Amino acid sequence: MNCIFEPRKSDFHFMHDISQYQDFFIQYLQNQNIHKEPSNLYEPIEYILGLGGKRIRPVLTLMAAEVFDADYTKALPAAMAVEVFHNFSLVHDDIMDDAPLRRGQVTVHEKWNLNTGILSGDAMLILAYQYFEQYEPNVFRNLAKLFSKTALEVCEGQQWDVDFETRKDVTIPEYLKMIEYKTAVLVAAAMKMGAIVAETSENEADLIYDFGLNLGLAFQLQDDYLDAFGDPETFGKQVGGDIIENKKTYLYLKALEFSSSEKASALEQLFTLQLEDNTTKIETAKTIFNESGASKATQEAIEMYTLKAFETLEKMEISAEKKKVLRTFGENLMGRKV
Ligand code: IPE
Ligand code: IPE
Ligand code: MG
Ligand code: MG
Ligand code: MG
Repeated sequence: MNCIFEPRKSDFHFMHDISQYQDFFIQYLQNQNIHKEPSNLYEPIEYILGLGGKRIRPVLTLMAAEVFDADYTKALPAAMAVEVFHNFSLVHDDIMDDAPLRRGQVTVHEKWNLNTGILSGDAMLILAYQYFEQYEPNVFRNLAKLFSKTALEVCEGQQWDVDFETRKDVTIPEYLKMIEYKTAVLVAAAMKMGAIVAETSENEADLIYDFGLNLGLAFQLQDDYLDAFGDPETFGKQVGGDIIENKKTYLYLKALEFSSSEKASALEQLFTLQLEDNTTKIETAKTIFNESGASKATQEAIEMYTLKAFETLEKMEISAEKKKVLRTFGENLMGRKV
């Protein structure tokens, strides 16, 4: 039947919900044939990718593609690239953080060994880039460019994170720059890749990047909070790992700021220790985080950056329904426990 009112495509293009995007992605992931010889290179890759996780970044890529009126299927290889890169960064991060647990299971370098963790990680980084080969030259170029910039920033953020372990004078602005680089830029890039695949305007692509960046800052603040206060039964990582490693998190920096100089020095001293048994250190640090008001300040910062992300949404030329899907995603992230 003919209709005299030609509806704009964007009025009709419907969005899926978050669990559907997750399902689409997991289906695609399971259809990838990663296993090859030598198995000591590829088994750890399958292992880490198969451990699950929240799949936040690939979901955001698929979601962003549909926000800008492309079919999510077009964004699947880019979503895969982002998730493979993320998992690579976790394998190497767990080596750097000396972490025993990831997603409730043994970390790659502990299940196999250090060299396996290094090389399987390297292979994953390359595998990630390979997924962009499925796009035509212009889209390929834009994706690869964003990805290279982002990956380098993640390395910079990770180096700062490690440098800060042995520094006593880390400031809040330095901390914020560090988490922007190690975490937020990838969340932002995941979304912008959806925009690139959809070939939307540069302005809209930059706005969704900004949305993702602020969401990513909130996400890392929440990660820091859960590292200390998560439920060991469900968290999936070693609770207190950041305290053990003397990480200069927002919790720690705010506790210093809010404490008397005497208490602050004691906390500073606590965060130079490297112990065999960390039970008391963890308990002491958590008490200080709570009693100083640092825990509350962290919760407030999480909310602040989430609201900042929502402000960016207002500037975007997308339908109210689409804004609502993105907003719901941000609200869910704020309430997460893992
Ligand atoms: C963990 O990321 C690393 C950070 C950047 C905080 P996620 O919390 O997204 O980990 P998974 O993929 O869900 O396990
Ligand atoms: C993660 O920071 C950043 C990257 C993996 C690039 P964390 O070290 O806090 O991540 P988790 O807590 O181990 O997941
Ligand atoms: Mg870590
Ligand atoms: Mg780390
Ligand atoms: Mg963490």
